[in-house]
Amino acid sequence: MKGIILAGGNATRLYPLTATTSKQLLPVYDRQMIFYPLNTLIKAGIKEILVVVAPDHSGQFLNLLGSLFKNYGIRIVFEVQKVPAGLPQAFVLGEKFIDDDSATLILGDNIFEDDFSQDIKEFKSGGKVFATKASDPERSGVVKFDDKGKAIQIVEKPKKWISDFVITGLYVYDNRVIQAAKDLKPSERGEYEIVDLHNFYLEKNELDVKVFDGEWLDAGTFDSLLEAGQVVKDKKLYENFDPIVQEAIAEFNEQLKKISKKMLTK
Ligand code: G1P
Repeated sequence: MKGIILAGGNATRLYPLTATTSKQLLPVYDRQMIFYPLNTLIKAGIKEILVVVAPDHSGQFLNLLGSLFKNYGIRIVFEVQKVPAGLPQAFVLGEKFIDDDSATLILGDNIFEDDFSQDIKEFKSGGKVFATKASDPERSGVVKFDDKGKAIQIVEKPKKWISDFVITGLYVYDNRVIQAAKDLKPSERGEYEIVDLHNFYLEKNELDVKVFDGEWLDAGTFDSLLEAGQVVKDKKLYENFDPIVQEAIAEFNEQLKKISKKMLTK
């Protein structure tokens, strides 16, 4: 299983904050946002992770993550996405990196309270996505279930209500996703849509939609960014981190302290 974090895009909803740095490097309470999706992947035992970044921020990501996990047997590589044209692009950009494996894609601003490690570890084939109830489903990809709880329809940001269940930004697909992503046609809004990949598997009866209740935060607006920090603090979500990630962050902090001490004594 390979992991991909999508951390590109311009995040215009967070201007002026994102005029100087990437959204995924903004703080969520005491650490950069990217550590949350990174933790989701590392906790699931994934050892090879591709981070897709915007051209202007590649240096900043490299500074933070370039060698952070090298002593833990985790390889992090980067790919620059010149123009954001939809989430499925991650699989096209990541074709060589994914190679013959399956891939878990997580959006760089998605924070989950639940632990999906087992779901990712036990994944065999097809597609697996994670859905939760939302008060504003029209803002996301929406999934409708039949009486037996089987997913029957998935629509991106439906104008007319079909269901309250939204598909969150964590997706596990088998290797066929690369070709499926390449074959997609842009939607009316001119983007390649991730729901078309869900539907590729749904049509074959190979899409597993897991419903969860825990906290789901996508920190893409001022209010949701603020809320994410508050929820993380109140629920102490940073305590759920994998020991590897926790240790790597602590080590990074130590290095920073040493560097600033040296500068002071000069
Ligand atoms: C994207 C996807 C949508 C999904 C959402 C989860 O939307 O297109 O299907 O539900 O992420 O965060 P965006 O938030 O990029 O508009």
